[in-house]
Amino acid sequence: MFPQDFSKLEVIGEGKTKIVRRMEDPDLVLLEFKDAITALDGGKKDTLTGKGHINARISSFLFEFLSKEGVPTHYVSFIEPNYMVVRRLKMLPVEVVCRNIAAGSFTKKYPVKVGSRLKYPIVEYYLKDDLRHDPMMNEDHIVVLGILPSIEEVKEIKELVLKVNKSLSNFLDSKGITLVDFKLEFGRDKDGKICIGDEINGDSMRLWDKETGRVLDKDVYRQGKKLGEVLETYRECYRRIIGEEPKV
Ligand code: TMP
Ligand code: ASP
Repeated sequence: MFPQDFSKLEVIGEGKTKIVRRMEDPDLVLLEFKDAITALDGGKKDTLTGKGHINARISSFLFEFLSKEGVPTHYVSFIEPNYMVVRRLKMLPVEVVCRNIAAGSFTKKYPVKVGSRLKYPIVEYYLKDDLRHDPMMNEDHIVVLGILPSIEEVKEIKELVLKVNKSLSNFLDSKGITLVDFKLEFGRDKDGKICIGDEINGDSMRLWDKETGRVLDKDVYRQGKKLGEVLETYRECYRRIIGEEPKV
């Protein structure tokens, strides 16, 4: 059914859930989404057949949506079942989190009730450094550690994240989903322009059913639910966002 075989393309990077392969055009790379699911810094790991397809398709769909909204991203095209062609970026070692509703690490660190809507969206920065357990940074840390040359570029990223938050929140709301929080990663393209990279899907967002509060993202796995229920959650997330049955 899916005739493309990319296994001969050289692997130039591999993470917990994605493989990066070289393409003929040196400006492009192929992201292969694996069926792997992990939590606790990789300490908990399983295989969910079809998750690679689901997450590649949702990411592609949301990147296309954001591009139409004028947000610069690395996205080029989706290839069935679990590939995304993207422009090669020089990634910044930062994870940028935006929160609308208190959940996750925010409610563990601060005296605030799970599920309470925040007065306005919060943007947080984390250094991507496994050995140091991704410490949180403020805007000054990012400049002083040499990750970005100026506070202006940090502000540019913050504005982009808030714009993504508005666009995605509205879109997901129309699908009956509340965007609780999400994480973005950024890089520079060959012209030095800052673009969104990596992925946007149920692994990188918290999504709750608007009416019932049902969790539609990776939190079901983090909470230790059975793998069948975890896969069904990813499939439901796909149905809601894409409007079809997953193909795998
Ligand atoms: P947190 O509440 O654990 O800090 O997570 C905030 C958001 O960031 C949540 O939507 C999940 C996402 N996230 C990632 O995509 N990768 C990560 O490694 C972590 C810790 C969070
Ligand atoms: N992404 C991290 C891991 O896979 C943590 C998480 O998302 O919960 O271990």
